[in-house]
Amino acid sequence: MSEGHRIFAALYDRLNGAMERGWMGERRERLLSGARGVVLEIGGGTGANLPHYRDVERVTVSEPDPFMREKLRPKLARVRVPVELSEAGAEALPFPDDSFDTVVSTLVLCTVPNQGLALAEIRRVLRPGGRLLFIEHVRGEGSAARWQDRIEPLWGFLLAGCHPNRDTVSSIREAGFEIEALEDFYPPVPLSGLTPHVQGVAAVRLAA
Ligand SMILES: C[S@@+](CC[C@H](N)C(=O)[O-])C[C@H]1O[C@@H](n2cnc3c(N)ncnc32)[C@H](O)[C@@H]1O
Repeated sequence: MSEGHRIFAALYDRLNGAMERGWMGERRERLLSGARGVVLEIGGGTGANLPHYRDVERVTVSEPDPFMREKLRPKLARVRVPVELSEAGAEALPFPDDSFDTVVSTLVLCTVPNQGLALAEIRRVLRPGGRLLFIEHVRGEGSAARWQDRIEPLWGFLLAGCHPNRDTVSSIREAGFEIEALEDFYPPVPLSGLTPHVQGVAAVRLAA
């Protein structure tokens, strides 16, 4: 169980306010309009995705950081669909195989300590035909990637264990998903704008 990041959690909504009112809020809305059925959100943070859930059966939000959960909990009452909170980390999801129609990850696969294990767990709990919806920042190319490698220790220290240089789309494919939709973008703001982002939908690859 994570001990948590008290300062990161305390500052998270304040630091991200402008981004949420602008590009990120719009992207969350568009991404989550694709959520269906029984939904699991990993690393729910302070609950920024919660207002965007509408036509789904229910949502389980998992968040292993107690300081993030403290910020998230009061927002649960305002969610328009049935919602429950879990303390689970993505690498050990306490749910049966094939139990969700949709898994949501926004800015989480950059931070989970073991991305391969987290993706294997996401695939396990998704039913055949289920979908992973994601917005993540990812590894750049060439000199941008080398720069990301150099700043990784400082970046991780400042941003609660975040890795700026993960090739997350390749990892999603390797974990047994088919990428159905993918958009690359650079956010129009400092810091986030330093690293390429992706928004996409990945479906569990069915056995041949
Ligand atoms: C940058 S924040 C993103 C929060 C939220 N998803 C959002 O879109 O605003 C990264 C989140 O990942 C969570 N996290 C860290 N390790 C995790 C793990 N092993 N499993 C699931 N979530 C984790 C952190 O506690 C934090 O809430």
